[in-house]
Formats: sequence, C-alpha cells, structure tokens
Amino acid sequence: MWQGRFSGKPDKLMQEFSQSVSFDQRLWREDIQGSLAYAAELQRIGILTKRELADIKKGFKQITEEIESGKFDWKVELEDVHMNIESRLTELIGDAGKKLHTGRSRNDQVATDLRLWCIRVGMELSSAAQWMIQTIAGRASDNIEVIVPAYTHMQRAMPVRLAHHLVAYTEMIERDASQFDAAVGTARSVLPLGSSACAGNSFAVDGQTLKLELEFVEPARNSMDSVSDRDFALDLVYACAKCMTHLSRIAEDLIIWSTAEFGFITLGDAVTTGSSIMPQKRNPDACELVRGKTGRVVGHLMSLFTLLKGLPMTYNRDLQEDKEAVFDATDQTLACLRVMALVFSKENFKVNRERIQAHLDSGAGYMEAMNVADWLVLQGVPFRDGHDITGRLVKYVEAKGMRFADLTAGDLAAVDKRLKPELLKELSLEALVERKQVYAGTAKARVLERLAELKQWLKE
Ligand code: ARG
Repeated sequence: MWQGRFSGKPDKLMQEFSQSVSFDQRLWREDIQGSLAYAAELQRIGILTKRELADIKKGFKQITEEIESGKFDWKVELEDVHMNIESRLTELIGDAGKKLHTGRSRNDQVATDLRLWCIRVGMELSSAAQWMIQTIAGRASDNIEVIVPAYTHMQRAMPVRLAHHLVAYTEMIERDASQFDAAVGTARSVLPLGSSACAGNSFAVDGQTLKLELEFVEPARNSMDSVSDRDFALDLVYACAKCMTHLSRIAEDLIIWSTAEFGFITLGDAVTTGSSIMPQKRNPDACELVRGKTGRVVGHLMSLFTLLKGLPMTYNRDLQEDKEAVFDATDQTLACLRVMALVFSKENFKVNRERIQAHLDSGAGYMEAMNVADWLVLQGVPFRDGHDITGRLVKYVEAKGMRFADLTAGDLAAVDKRLKPELLKELSLEALVERKQVYAGTAKARVLERLAELKQWLKE
C-alpha cells in the first residue's frame, strides 16, 4: 500500500511483530459497514461514480460471503483487517477499489470500526446481564419462604429471605446493564470517520451525512481528538471489570454455599465437574472460573489505561494494542454472564431447604438476639441499655450451651428483670424477618414488591 516511498521490504520479524490481522479480523463486519457508508459519501460528493459505488457494493457482498464461508485469504503481509479487505476489493473490482480510501486514513477508519464493534458488543452484554437478572429473579420467586442467615464479617448477622439475598445480586447486575448501556452511548456519541489521519478530510465529505448513515449522534468536533480518543473503549472495559467484580462476589457466595459445611445449595451436573482422583467430588468450577477470570478482565482495564497514559497527540501505533484488551475483556464478561445465568437456572441452582432449616434450628450465631434488643426498645428501654441486657443474655445462653429457642421465663428473669416472659413468643427468626417492613427491607411484602418491579423493568 505504501511501497512507493520504500525501496526495501519489512523484515519478516517486523512483519510478524507489526501485524494485527490475526486478531483485528474480528472487525471485518464493522470495517465493511464503515466503508460502505464512506463510499456512498464519496459518490455523493462526486469522487466516485454511481457505477463505481455499485461495484464497491458488489465487491463487499462477495467479500462478506468469502469471510463468512471461511474462504477469505487473510494475509499477514497486508498487516491488518483494513488493508486485507481493501486489497481484496481492488482485486475484485479494480480502480473503484483503489478510490475508496480517498481522504480517509486507517486512523479514522479503525477508530470508527472499534466504536461500531463496542456498540454491538455492549448491547449484547446488556442483554446477557438482563437475562441473568431474569434467571435469578426466577429463583428468588421460587424460594420466597426460605430464610437464610445474612453475614457480616462472615459471621451470622441477621436472618433474611433467600430471595432478598438473590435480589441483592440482581441490583448489582442491573447497575451493570445500565453501565453497558452507558458505554454503548459513549461509543455512539462521536463519529471519527471524516477526521482522516488527524487533520480532517480534504474533500467535501460531510460528517453529518455519515453520522446518519452509521447511526452516530454527532460527527467528531475535533479531528485530532477523535482519531486518538479511546475513552469509549475504557468505558466498556470498565463496565466489564465492574461486572466481573460483581460476578466474582456472587460466584464466591455460591462456592461457599455449596460446601459441605454450608450445604445451602447443590449446583447441578451441567455446571460442576468431578475430580480425576476423588470419586466423591463435585466441584463448582463454573463459579471458580468466573472468579478467576475477574483478575484477567480487571487487568485489561489496567492495560488500556496504561496504554493511553502519556500518549502524545494524535494517533500512535501503540493504539493497535487496544484491541486485544477490548476483545478479551468483552468475550470473557459475556461468557461469564451467560454461564452464571446457567448456574442460576432451575435445573442447576438447587436450594437445600432442610439443610438450611437445620442450620437455623441449631441456634448457632444467636441471630434471635436482635429480636430481644428490638423488643426492649419497644418496651421503652433505651437501645444502648437494651444492647447491654441482650449481650448479657447471649453470654448466659452461650455459657449454658443452650439455644435461644430453649430459653424459659426463668432464664430471662435470671438475666434481667426487664426481660418479661412475653418476649419468648417474639423470638422466632421469621418474626425478625417480618419486622423489616421498611423500604429495601427483607420482609416478604417488600421482597415481593421489588421482584414485581424487577419483572416490570425487564419488560420495558
Ligand atoms: N492496525 C492499526 C490499528 O489497529 C490501524 C491503524 C494504523 N494506522 C497507521 N497509521 N499505521 O491501530
């Protein structure tokens, strides 16, 4: 493409080092889409004839078929996806192909292609997030009656509905869906095509027409910024890193819940694996891989930031390194969202209600204590005093090796005379859960309301 100015060929080592076609060929659809819009604009301003535009369209149709059927011959010598496609176009249609790049640079071309790609994949990520929310909401509805301990510091804290716990996950993933939508918005907001190498197009190419054709919000206001701006990629990879961080927390909970020690859930055959040596094993590999891949995706965010830091104006070849980070971050996140939706499917997410009930019945963790403190407040005892009295009651129960459920009126009176016998019937965990009637609380009515809102949101 640039041989005119050169006498020698690039070294083989340099060719291999500099090529990006092995990974950026993934941008082929977007590259053709951008080129078609650009060609139409060149025809509109008289650089291409109608005939030439028709040839270009025909050529791209054939190239599309060749790529889709795996027959396209990608050449490392042609460096990247852009030159591979342009060169094949010229092979197929001759001079019209050679005119396509008039006034354009690979700099505005690649920035446009990558934006188009981020728009498409960002939308896929958003729908995958919604699908996962829908699946989790299903399990929440199925298990509305189940009460589990909620933990702080990994110590039993307060009883909550399992559904409330699951809806906490949907909140996280709902924020992710919005973040993906926002990243799509950033990618779509500015069209770099027409900025050329860095100074703008020399012909009458109109950004306003191009933006309509490619469904962008505005043409770039500054050609220098637009060819070197990768904020949209940062935004999308940030959204991925944040989503993965959420998924890793969810995965970790499920891993803990599926241990013999907890046994709250059993994960299905479809999302677990056995051991090559221990016949009894069922390992939560899907969740572990999700947790593991999180580091990788967060790493991609760091590498993008580091790539962009201190980059001089305008386009620099460093920017070729943006693609693998974007591709892998989005590939991994998409796969993890889909796998986690599978983990939460009815077949794979089995709640062991009896086991959970046995945990609660054991009385370990003394979660009933909060009932006592709350009840004392309602009797007019200042909360700090109530806290102290309840603390003494917990000490008493612990010293006797008993459970709250075993307490008698005599035990209560032995600890403090303000602990009246009526308190005994207030001690159930269910009662404590149902006292959380406040907005965002874990009472059944509130959780059902939130689930209904969620279903409505998913429909919109
Ligand atoms: N493969 C290049 C990239 O991904 C395309 C742009 C190259 N531009 C250039 N002036 N060498 O960034």
